[in-house]
Amino acid sequence: MKILGISAGSRNGNNDSMCKEALMGAKEMGAEIEFVRLLDLDIKHCTGCNACCKAQATGRGNLCALKDDFDWLLDKMLDADGVVFSIPIFEKGASGLFRTLTDRFGPRMDRGCNVESDKNAREKTGKGIDPRILKDKVVSYIGLGGSDWTTRFQCDAAMQAMTPAWKVIDNDRFSWSTGIIMEDERVKRVHQIGVNIANAAKDIANASYQGEDGVCPHCHSRNFFLDGNSTHAICCVCGIEGDVKIVDGKVKFEFPKEQLEHAHDSLSGKILHCHDIGKNLANTANLKKSDEYKNRVEKYKNFIIATKREK
Ligand SMILES: Cc1cc2nc3c(=O)[nH]c(=O)nc-3n(C[C@H](O)[C@H](O)[C@H](O)COP(=O)(O)O)c2cc1C
Repeated sequence: MKILGISAGSRNGNNDSMCKEALMGAKEMGAEIEFVRLLDLDIKHCTGCNACCKAQATGRGNLCALKDDFDWLLDKMLDADGVVFSIPIFEKGASGLFRTLTDRFGPRMDRGCNVESDKNAREKTGKGIDPRILKDKVVSYIGLGGSDWTTRFQCDAAMQAMTPAWKVIDNDRFSWSTGIIMEDERVKRVHQIGVNIANAAKDIANASYQGEDGVCPHCHSRNFFLDGNSTHAICCVCGIEGDVKIVDGKVKFEFPKEQLEHAHDSLSGKILHCHDIGKNLANTANLKKSDEYKNRVEKYKNFIIATKREK
């Protein structure tokens, strides 16, 4: 059983240390471990070229037009049974580098898109996609902040797991953590995160979330998109729509059970989303054929040209 630790922090900084602390816990549970630092790698931003979607739709599998270290890292993630991330908290959420990694996962690593992609590839070539992409995996997140501005972190982290439909075991944020390596109680908690991910990786089918309950009963998120004029709320992570209520002095999020089918982290919700996007892209492709569409593109193109830095 293999656990990969990924730090998005600076060399030998707190994220490196806490990622390694979690790996120590995983190793104690018998895991083979490996550690990677994102800042050592060349990870380019997703440009939204959609080459991955086109390849998935035409049975050519799972590819990315960008040439950098991402595929090297992806290969390591696909070989691991579990991944533990330690991520600096920037502007209340996960750092941009981690968000870039998240962007590079979707749609290329989206489980729903890849179930369809596998079917397409089998029809066209008789051979499916890399089976590791459709394999279940467990993941945990440790977010370290230098202050108490940390409220978006768990939402950003959970979004990474949502694309490949990996099972989240822990997702903790640590505020005021610049001296965390000296705080035995919090170091112990990080160590436990490592123990938990290794135990979860031993039996992924029966593994379950080990963190705090949160508010969303489905995905444990505490981040919601509120309506302002009613009690209607949408969970920012799983997309389930329901109502927020105060019950016995506590915030409760309640929703009709049919909503579970649409949950963005479920295979049914993902496939639904994949089909919705397919329909929308087909409509847009039709629109693009019209002269009016072409005229409007030209209007914006010719209005002003982007200034580029002269080198
Ligand atoms: C650009 C930037 C933005 C930051 N924003 C926040 C923030 O919103 N909330 C917070 O708690 N800490 C914030 N920090 C502090 C970082 O979370 C802290 O420096 C980081 O966890 C250190 O990680 P390292 O020791 O692994 O490099 C910010 C730091 C930087 C450089």
